Amino acid sequence: MDQQITSRHGDVSLRLVKVKDARTLQHELLSNRAWLRPWEATVPGGSISFDMRLGIRRLLQQYRDGSGVPFVVESDGEVCGQLNIWGIARGSLNSATIGYWVAERFAGRGITPTAVALATDIAFTQLRLHRMEICIRPENGPSLRVVEKLGFRYEGLRRHYIHIDGDWRDHYSFALTTEDVPQGVLSRWLQGAAPESAAAIPPADRLRS
Ligand SMILES: CC(C)(COP(=O)(O)OP(=O)(O)OC[C@H]1O[C@@H](n2cnc3c(N)ncnc32)[C@H](O)[C@@H]1OP(=O)(O)O)[C@@H](O)C(=O)NCCC(=O)NCCS
Repeated sequence: MDQQITSRHGDVSLRLVKVKDARTLQHELLSNRAWLRPWEATVPGGSISFDMRLGIRRLLQQYRDGSGVPFVVESDGEVCGQLNIWGIARGSLNSATIGYWVAERFAGRGITPTAVALATDIAFTQLRLHRMEICIRPENGPSLRVVEKLGFRYEGLRRHYIHIDGDWRDHYSFALTTEDVPQGVLSRWLQGAAPESAAAIPPADRLRS
């Protein structure tokens, strides 16, 4: 894959994470503990590692292996969070999943929807993927707004799906395929043509926990 993989819209830009980002990211993760913990992936029986250098090296190895693309998200040149394309499956699936966070002081500025749109457009063009998925806990209202804004399609409830904050948590799954966005995710959103109703959760699947 292209080592220079990068994208930008307005003040928001994506670039590959570097080992040099470790100190900044570690500082953000530690000073945003209460903000991030309820949504943070954990390992059953394990503890969260704050060895960011090791974490970044592992992400970059996944990038070299073709199984993921680890971005940092910048706002006006300042690192404000991460967006990770993970679980790239090739062959007859050509699918992947996106995870993301921004530091609390950057919340509410539309940074994440912009970053998700940029990353999905990279995935569908440069990486030639066909489908992008986002899985969200039912309690995560702000993240549900991100997929709603971009018109990701609700695909279903996955019980006890991902180990988050120390336990197996239910998730809602949302996805886009290339057929949904011939004009691109970002330009569809900017044109006001993203169908927010696509992310609506059917009454039978509505949960609170
Ligand atoms: C979910 C998250 C990535 C959204 O990022 P963002 O860049 O703030 O996205 P947006 O600016 O589009 O805001 C989305 C919604 O968050 C809510 N929001 C806005 N400001 C907020 C704040 N200061 N605190 C909490 N929520 C806020 C609003 O409901 C907003 O929707 P609106 O624009 O219709 O009002 C961010 O809240 C976050 O990092 N949370 C912690 C980690 C996390 O949940 N990751 C995702 C796991 S699936």
